[in-house]
Amino acid sequence: MDQSFEDDRLASSSFLPEDRLEGALRPERLEDFVGQERHKENLRVFIQAALQRGEALDHCLFHGPPGLGKTTLAHILAKELGSQVRVTSGPVLEKPADLAGLLTNLNDRDILFVDEVHRLGKVVEEYLYPAMEDFRLDILLDRGAAARSVQLTLPRFTLVGATTRAGLLSSPLMARFGIVVHLEHYQRQELASILERSARLLELDLDPQAAYEVAGRCRGTPRIANRLLRRLRDFAQVKGQGRITLDIARYGLERLEVDEEGLDRLDRAFLRILCETYQGGPVGLGTLSVALGEEEDTLEEVLEPFLVKEGFLQRTPRGRVATARAWSHLGLPPRPSAGDTGILPF
Ligand SMILES: Nc1ncnc2c1ncn2[C@@H]1O[C@H](COP(=O)(O)OP(=O)(O)O)[C@@H](O)[C@H]1O
Ligand SMILES: [Mg+2]
Repeated sequence: MDQSFEDDRLASSSFLPEDRLEGALRPERLEDFVGQERHKENLRVFIQAALQRGEALDHCLFHGPPGLGKTTLAHILAKELGSQVRVTSGPVLEKPADLAGLLTNLNDRDILFVDEVHRLGKVVEEYLYPAMEDFRLDILLDRGAAARSVQLTLPRFTLVGATTRAGLLSSPLMARFGIVVHLEHYQRQELASILERSARLLELDLDPQAAYEVAGRCRGTPRIANRLLRRLRDFAQVKGQGRITLDIARYGLERLEVDEEGLDRLDRAFLRILCETYQGGPVGLGTLSVALGEEEDTLEEVLEPFLVKEGFLQRTPRGRVATARAWSHLGLPPRPSAGDTGILPF
């Protein structure tokens, strides 16, 4: 696989270096967070109740595919609660001491944001249980005969966990989150609003039809919508009059190889291997991962959910299977049915 393949991917919803700029587009208050109305309404109530009681908000888990606003929501919570947020992630917290260091430095009602919370180590996770439940930490001092345990009382904090893989969370950890929010892909109209908001912040001229076009081709994902917008700004500047019109949007999307259904090159390569090399499947994820030179995790967390949702792919116990829609999208004749051997019955 050529090296530029991954770098060129625009419709990937995983994090690219350029997305460090995304802070500028990140809504800071709940009212600026577009969509997810039911979750927002509920969070508003929980925040207000916690504030009225002067308590820390219950621990929250945000889960769903990358780029849908988990990190953004964690920061919004802190802002709405008027508290500070400390940011860490599952793989960074290697030892119980790392966790103890963070927890003991929190102030009352602060938020500890643990990204990729499904990647917490077993030992650290077990230290976290009493911390979440009773705001205490049991620390073992010395070893052998001199060993004794001391108990630290922690500030009352809110743990906000984010994960793309809620299924990998252990049930004791899952049980300690009082508020669980599953973020879903956004509707086209919501994405158009997000694009219009971003265009305002970037001082860009974005025609409403162009916003709607891009909104239909960003995999239901705000991060991808914003990323496409930044690239279209370049096309508008160099190839147009600076304004992102419907024509410029279509031209740019074509140049970026994002097709009408919002599939990018990797999506199409995935479906093509499935259909052309493996006759449409079923084929195991491992095989596809090797054939594409992409991590299984990326395929499973980013690429497949969209292809399944849009009806291009089925995940079956025996492996991945291309649907009729996949064959026709690739411009291939429909798959020969299993019983069709091409031999006439006489
Ligand atoms: N509901 C939303 N409204 C407006 N912008 C959003 C929304 N959700 C996400 N975004 C934008 O998408 C970007 C990616 O969101 P982020 O919170 O980092 O996703 P996640 O943590 O789920 O991967 C943010 O910088 C923000 O600009
Ligand atoms: Mg995030």
